Amino acid sequence: MTDLESKPRVFSGIRASGDKTLGNYSGGYRQYAATQETGDAFFCIVDLHSITTEFSPADLREFTLAGAAMLFATGLDAERSTVFCQSHVVAHAEAAWLLGSVTSFGELRRMTQFKEKSEGQDFVSAGLFNYPVLMVGDILLYQTEIVPIGDDQRQHLELTRDVAERFNQRFGETFTIPRGVYPEEGARIRNLQEPERLMSTTRGTPAGVVRMIDEPDVIRKKFKTAVTDSEKEIRHDPAAKPGISNLLEIMSVASGEPVAALERRYEGAGYGQFKEDVGEAVVALLTPIQERYRALRADERELQRLLGVGAEKARRASEPTLEAMYDRMGFVKPEAGRLFGAARPRGL
Ligand code: TRP
Repeated sequence: MTDLESKPRVFSGIRASGDKTLGNYSGGYRQYAATQETGDAFFCIVDLHSITTEFSPADLREFTLAGAAMLFATGLDAERSTVFCQSHVVAHAEAAWLLGSVTSFGELRRMTQFKEKSEGQDFVSAGLFNYPVLMVGDILLYQTEIVPIGDDQRQHLELTRDVAERFNQRFGETFTIPRGVYPEEGARIRNLQEPERLMSTTRGTPAGVVRMIDEPDVIRKKFKTAVTDSEKEIRHDPAAKPGISNLLEIMSVASGEPVAALERRYEGAGYGQFKEDVGEAVVALLTPIQERYRALRADERELQRLLGVGAEKARRASEPTLEAMYDRMGFVKPEAGRLFGAARPRGL
């Protein structure tokens, strides 16, 4: 227990979307599993955020379950970490409402993600405008110290800190002020066909995107046909040799060996052999993950059980903060408790 108490509280929100890639593995899943060892970690599949732009109910359901299965398949442990769905813990929706009163219209209107996602759309939901408030609540409900997050989320994290400070000042110390931890530049995997862009399923040549659930032969083929550079030397130099540098980084992620060691090993080797080896290393990395993923995705009861364990832990962890928010803001406490109404035992 003392071990747990000394670990910083970490919160990560993961968007439920289709087809995760090797880029998501490198910048996301791999880091989550590492965080589990060093922090008191909460991993939240942010399904409530998914409905702020166009979505279909069938996709939401599939992406949520697939997202959960992938988190467990890549190494998260339901006992050591808290892995849960945002919509399973009602405190998130409630916190967003309460925090809406201490977030200004002007602040939300300035958010670049809102501007980008709303531009040119016929229908811009009020939910998209309020997206950052929900996210602020996700983080603050858990007295989070550290938020590992993408660079594109910097503005949302700054907003979280501002809102937390404003609330603390107005209603009394309630929230820990969180800190964002951003991935190092360069630790990001690029499209195998267009190494100038990040690997993503929404943009870029599909043949250059390695999906987490691609068949081994598909993976091999994608690496065989990866673009390299004209000068034949296997050296890490992203500006001059973006293709080879990307492959060296991928091999390093897949094998755990540092890039410098790989450069030495492949000194004088041909591009053909190197690309084949990178493909094999990725197949070796992904095959066991895919096996665990398929088994878990096919067993919805087990998946639901694991998510149930997470939701229960998340409810208990967030409840004192939500109660403090209501209380300090002057809401009258319901006699029978809040979470499950009269059915909820006192003192839970
Ligand atoms: N907005 C984040 C993203 O797009 C996802 C997210 C929602 C999140 N809630 C969060 C991330 C809380 C970190 C903490 O990636």
